[in-house]
Amino acid sequence: MRPSTLRPRVHLLVCTHARRPDDPLRSGCGASGPAVFATLKRATAGIAARVWVTATGCLGHCPRTGCSVVLHPHNEHLVEVVEVDVPAVLAQSLGGR
Ligand code: FES
Repeated sequence: MRPSTLRPRVHLLVCTHARRPDDPLRSGCGASGPAVFATLKRATAGIAARVWVTATGCLGHCPRTGCSVVLHPHNEHLVEVVEVDVPAVLAQSLGGR
């Protein structure tokens, strides 16, 4: 093992996990997560070395609508995120840093 030389300023984890609609844990983030992830990737294409965006499985806090997004190193967890929230997610991630 060795440390990587890559040093992103922020790392956004976007839940894209989908469950069947009849799952007792609800349908998960699959209805919104892929669109949020794709929009964040497009929006950060020019700054991809500083802002990493990664699609993930369940982040453990499943919203009834939208998807979950975790912001690192801010240690923040946003829920009910939908595609139109992407500019606000980026502003919160990059604001003042
Ligand atoms: S399915 Fe997305 S946080 Fe659980």
